[in-house]
Amino acid sequence: MKGKIIKGFSKLSGKEKRHGIASLCKKPEAAEKEMESYLAADPATRKKFLELSENTISSFHVPYGIAPNVMIDGRIYHVPMAIEESSVIAAASHAARFWAERGGFRVKQISTVKLGHVYFRWFTDPRFLSDHWDHIRFFLLDRLRKTTASMVRRGGGVLELRLIDSSEIMENLYKLELELDTVNSMGANFINTCLEELAEGMDAYLSMNNHVKERRYQHIMSILSNFTEKCTITVEASCSFNELKPFAGKLPVEEFAEKIQLAYGIAKGDPYRAATHNKGIMNGVDAVLLATGNDYRAAEAAAHAYASREGVYQALSSCRLKDRKLTISLTIPLAIGTVGGITNLHPLARLSLEILGNPNARELMAIVAAVGLSSNFAALTSLVTTGIQKGHMRLHLSNILNSLNAGTSGRRTAEEYFTEKKISYDAVKHFVDARSN
Ligand code: MEV
Repeated sequence: MKGKIIKGFSKLSGKEKRHGIASLCKKPEAAEKEMESYLAADPATRKKFLELSENTISSFHVPYGIAPNVMIDGRIYHVPMAIEESSVIAAASHAARFWAERGGFRVKQISTVKLGHVYFRWFTDPRFLSDHWDHIRFFLLDRLRKTTASMVRRGGGVLELRLIDSSEIMENLYKLELELDTVNSMGANFINTCLEELAEGMDAYLSMNNHVKERRYQHIMSILSNFTEKCTITVEASCSFNELKPFAGKLPVEEFAEKIQLAYGIAKGDPYRAATHNKGIMNGVDAVLLATGNDYRAAEAAAHAYASREGVYQALSSCRLKDRKLTISLTIPLAIGTVGGITNLHPLARLSLEILGNPNARELMAIVAAVGLSSNFAALTSLVTTGIQKGHMRLHLSNILNSLNAGTSGRRTAEEYFTEKKISYDAVKHFVDARSN
């Protein structure tokens, strides 16, 4: 297989795929065994995992942990997180407990409207579209009724359909914009089905006037938008300066609060810092999304598009100080679900939702946002006090020791030795090598 175009890979059995791909490795037999060792032992579970995707040869493991004590509007959640980066769960847990003991997070705003578009070009008199729009709209919505019936029964469905002249992007370009409520599902498939149905409806309507045949209308594409600016949540938390002590370290609480506010201000104004600041939020957000079987790539795309909505990339969270009180706040788009997709197919995603008390989509949005804000606050407090490396490297020490194959007693002595020492890969390697010589 090395360096060659492989034909028919998808047709091979799992074993044949593993065997072929293992031949690309230095020790093919060991590689094949390793791939096999990460397959779920129970055949039915293995099949379930492997059939979630295509061309699968094994399962890729990611640590699955809990951030306990996330309090939202008075209710406590112990939140499952799936993430490989050390210190993210510890930091989020630390901040979540801190805020839980100070009243927790509050949901300030929530909206769940989703958007999708049908893009098309219109080569003749634009007045035809505007003049007939009411009629076209009625015709299209009527056609959609069958597709949306069960969503309507669940409390959702179409909220609005509009025609938008997009000729400032491209000559002759228009789009239909569909607004929907998909209740507890992320609804990606549902939205795309509705959009394709709308496109077929446009074709049918315009065929009646020969616009299609005469090539005066050209459908380009129909797809949901991941810029979910109308599907956002705002959570916030506040406490008095005096209550900040556990995070202020050696700093007086006033100076700590001021530095936190400055850090948020920098992330608002400087896109270089904003990207890293938002990455810290997404550490928590993505980990909960992955653990609950949600599409974290969609959430990432939405978050960064939203962060740029004013034309400059900005921080998603903010901070204000008033009357010796610090308030932190996060507004983030989260088009997520608790039914559909893999939320009920992936055994651990299903379990995560059960651990959370089977929340609805709005509740899950709040949980995800609260963990994102916890991660963000934890990162900022480290940055303005001890620096990020101190805590991070302490938790990363275990990874370094694992990569150096340190045995149990070697680990223990290294952990003791580095309690007060600066940790770096080289320093740990030097220590481990010196002990084994
Ligand atoms: C590291 O994964 C995330 C941070 O860089 C976030 C931040 O700087 O705010 C620590």
